[in-house]
Amino acid sequence: MGKFQVIDHPLIQHKLTIIRQKDVGTKDFREVVDEIAMLMAYEVSRDLPLEDVVIETPITTTTQKQLSGKKLAIVPILRAGIGMVDGILKLIPAAKVGHIGMYRDEETLEPVEYLVKLPEDIASRQIFVVDPMLATGGSAILAIDSLKKRGATNIKFVCLVAAPEGIGALQAAHPDVDIYAASKDEKLNEHGYIVPGLGDAGDRLFGTK
Ligand code: PRP
Ligand code: URA
Repeated sequence: MGKFQVIDHPLIQHKLTIIRQKDVGTKDFREVVDEIAMLMAYEVSRDLPLEDVVIETPITTTTQKQLSGKKLAIVPILRAGIGMVDGILKLIPAAKVGHIGMYRDEETLEPVEYLVKLPEDIASRQIFVVDPMLATGGSAILAIDSLKKRGATNIKFVCLVAAPEGIGALQAAHPDVDIYAASKDEKLNEHGYIVPGLGDAGDRLFGTK
């Protein structure tokens, strides 16, 4: 079973409280999502492999650590996942970015895939799938199915708010995938929205409603 970890750093909790509030507008919502994603990247990248490198300081020759060059890809689930990409790139600027387009049918809540555009060598990359919301888990499960069909084996899922239902469904479907969230919320409501949640993340990021 993959692990589920809430990254409960005080800065993250404080910023999440800001964007949960309904009167926060698009500009602030977008900026704070970006900041939270950057802070989460610090923890999500904690187990990246290091290797020894010999360098010259102004004083001496020394053996130090550097990232071992394991290739990374950030894969946002469109649309709302896009809001988390730049924050992670600030810490890991060499990562490649793939896109998976998916929307939830509002009646059935079933996800529908409409675009997959990934780095050619996706199968050999460590992948961070990002989406602010893990609700029923349908979108995350289908996105990860899609990545695995293309050979991906090393995947973490990073979200802001996770519902217990989505965590359980994703762990059951993809037990090899670790899940990171800024909060585990209470439940889903009858429309499939996370409670207390933050509303429709795509609409709030892009100002479409
Ligand atoms: C939202 C969100 C997730 C999905 C989560 O996207 O960004 O992708 O719902 O719900 P699930 O866990 O029940 O699948 P939405 O379908 O609203 O599309 P959008 O990002 O284009 O607004
Ligand atoms: N998608 C969202 O954007 N918000 C929710 O609460 C659930 C799914």
